[in-house]
Amino acid sequence: MSDKLIIFDTTLRDGEQSPGASMTKDEKVRIAKSLERMQVDVIEAGFPIASVGDFESVQAVANTVTESRICGLARALDNDIDRAGEALKGANASRIHTFIATSPIHMEMKLRMNPDQVIENAVKAVKRARRYTDDVEFSPEDAGRSEPEFLYRILEAVIDAGATTLNIPDTVGYNLPHQFGQLIYNLRENIPNSDKVIFSVHCHNDLGLAVANSLSAVLNGARQVECTINGLGERAGNAAIEEVVMAVRTRQDMFSCDTNIDTTQILAASRLVSGITGFAVQPNKAIVGANAFAHESGIHQDGVLKNRETYEIMRAEDVGWNANRMVMGKHSGRNAFKDRLKQLGTEFETEADLNEVFRKFKELADKKHDIFDEDLQALVSDTVTLDNERIRLTSLRVCSETGETPVASVTLCIDDEEKQIEIAGSGPVDAALRAIEELVQSKTELQLYSVNNITSGTDSQGEVNVRLEKAGRIVSGQGSDTDIVIASAKAYINALNKILVPVDRAHPQV
Ligand code: KIV
Ligand code: ZN
Repeated sequence: MSDKLIIFDTTLRDGEQSPGASMTKDEKVRIAKSLERMQVDVIEAGFPIASVGDFESVQAVANTVTESRICGLARALDNDIDRAGEALKGANASRIHTFIATSPIHMEMKLRMNPDQVIENAVKAVKRARRYTDDVEFSPEDAGRSEPEFLYRILEAVIDAGATTLNIPDTVGYNLPHQFGQLIYNLRENIPNSDKVIFSVHCHNDLGLAVANSLSAVLNGARQVECTINGLGERAGNAAIEEVVMAVRTRQDMFSCDTNIDTTQILAASRLVSGITGFAVQPNKAIVGANAFAHESGIHQDGVLKNRETYEIMRAEDVGWNANRMVMGKHSGRNAFKDRLKQLGTEFETEADLNEVFRKFKELADKKHDIFDEDLQALVSDTVTLDNERIRLTSLRVCSETGETPVASVTLCIDDEEKQIEIAGSGPVDAALRAIEELVQSKTELQLYSVNNITSGTDSQGEVNVRLEKAGRIVSGQGSDTDIVIASAKAYINALNKILVPVDRAHPQV
């Protein structure tokens, strides 16, 4: 049995399936580069048949990343597989991941196929995928609720057809750790050709057990875990990469395998994904939450000061906390700025792009004495423009005074036409967002508005997240500025620019 545990990251595919977490091509490439820096083995870059945008994103990731294997998802359908094969052409190392549901309820109600038809489709799909790459992963969707005997049959058949990885999903997060571990053990024992493949697991977190189930599977012979940064994913999400990796690394006394992950990159990746998607990380989240290594109580602090191992099982710096934390300021030069951003995972395609962000950095440094990594990441996110940006903020003025109703005066450029309005609101943010809505007439519903300080201190930038809904579609928008009213306007406009572009996108599991 191999002592290497393969880490397969699906932030860009399953992670993006979480409502409001959709990402642009450029954002996906930035995240992919950060995963590559973390030494993730396989990056599932998307579901190429879903839309032209999804296809181009997978293609862009495949053409950019060289150190990780790039994977594309495909249902067990000819067109899906051909599209995935096409998107992955430029990859140094590619994988096609094809799947079909195997639980009685999915076969009957969703696919309307009998078990023999499901096997036939699975075998055909794997054979077709092998025309494009010799690395083919097969998943029996909803394996956690499938009949074991049927799994033995279909998995034996797809191995014969050329599958090299068998991924066992607990699609609806129903399994318990001992049960899921036993399932992996039974599959390995009962499938005659099981020694020819790597067993992988893909656990959802509906009962909060995704990481526990994944680890139980590893103890029973799984040698690939599918996971996402911060546990992003459908509904309650997937297994969190940072938790899986650190559990295996910290408890080497229990595991006979380890990952290749450079754990010092974990925090940067977590922040990048949270910044891009607007999905905040809760303070008490393991490994990457703000409190994960904070010791509040006096007794704990005393113990940690005497010997850190009294209360710490991991070192904060091993997952990127405080590592090379560099503070920049108004005297920092362009090269230092460029270097730091490179370490944080951002490289610029053109000198003009670099110059634009550097100009904004200087502007920020005039307002704020110390510029931290979080500020730099927010600056980059704020500077990246969307492909179809219809609305731009030209100017914003807000009057707010005790005893008076706040009034916002907003000028927007909408489809190259300048429009201006003045509107009152219950507060300065309310007035600004109402003014924007009045000009745009998007008729969207604001589902979420949140503001957080990016760093500490009253001169910190505020980072605003908004989530908008229209006809069942949810998008999120982010904006940052030292002025939180401007940050709010930027975030709202960012979300509007996303929701105003119609998308025709297939969901892989519907
Ligand atoms: O949860 C799931 O079953 C999936 C499959 C496509 C692997 O995401
Ligand atoms: Zn999934």
